Amino acid sequence: MGLMGKTALVTGAATGLGLAFAKRLAADGANVALADLKGADEPAAALAKHGHRVLGLRADVSSDESVTAMVAATVDRFGAVDILVNNAAVSSTLKLTPFEELTVGEWQHVLGVNTIGVFLCCRAVALPMRKKKSGRIINIASGTAFKGAPFLLHYIASKGAVMSMTRSLARELGGDNITVNAVSPGYTLSEGNLANAQFLAAQRDAAVSSRALPRDAYPDDLVGAVSFLASDDAAFITGQILAVDGGSVYH
Ligand SMILES: NC(=O)c1ccc[n+]([C@@H]2O[C@H](COP(=O)([O-])OP(=O)(O)OC[C@H]3O[C@@H](n4cnc5c(N)ncnc54)[C@H](O)[C@@H]3O)[C@@H](O)[C@H]2O)c1
Repeated sequence: MGLMGKTALVTGAATGLGLAFAKRLAADGANVALADLKGADEPAAALAKHGHRVLGLRADVSSDESVTAMVAATVDRFGAVDILVNNAAVSSTLKLTPFEELTVGEWQHVLGVNTIGVFLCCRAVALPMRKKKSGRIINIASGTAFKGAPFLLHYIASKGAVMSMTRSLARELGGDNITVNAVSPGYTLSEGNLANAQFLAAQRDAAVSSRALPRDAYPDDLVGAVSFLASDDAAFITGQILAVDGGSVYH
């Protein structure tokens, strides 16, 4: 219960990794706002049944207005945002596409959510975090940005940008005692990825065979890293990208 009294905001928390992060932070004692484009009332209600203090929000991280409302609703309900997990992304719904066939519209959509969305959420929590002289921002990146991978160029570029933003924001926010780190998952069997037959065929076995620990990855494999980076134990760690991928990438 190391996060008792803290408030976490997790984006893209209706399903998959985001929901797993929200559950873990709630189990750690935090108040948790779960925000998602498709709403998060149902998973929030399920967590509330277990006695957790949670709030379900419908929010689009690519919209400045929606992000402002999401942070305001969280502060209204819990009085602060101490921890932001930037997890929302256009991810498991993508199709593997040769880069020559990607449109500018597809690029703009992916960058709008995965990169500009991270900027908007960081900007919106910066003021309340600076006032408290404390905060934790945890960005969810992707091992594909370290390794390169074919047929997802816009997605990989969006996650490479998130890694660069993590380092630069750490420098910009450190003076106010706000840490900014990233977790870089390998290919993980989230609900969304399990429903994407193309991803399963192309990535599952390849991911497992690339690992020092040669097995599938599940959302629960990632939650400890987020919990740690949100905790007081990680107070002097910032600007880091923690690969949680069974030992696939060493950087
Ligand atoms: N699962 C993996 O193998 C893997 C690997 C590396 C990185 N990641 C990253 O981890 C995160 C979660 O992965 P996942 O597999 O659970 O993804 P997913 O695609 O299954 O879920 C993403 C969630 O984000 C929400 N979302 C999408 N656009 C949004 C928007 N504009 N505003 C708010 N919410 C929005 C979706 O509704 C969904 O609930 C993503 O950032 C993804 O890029 C995943």
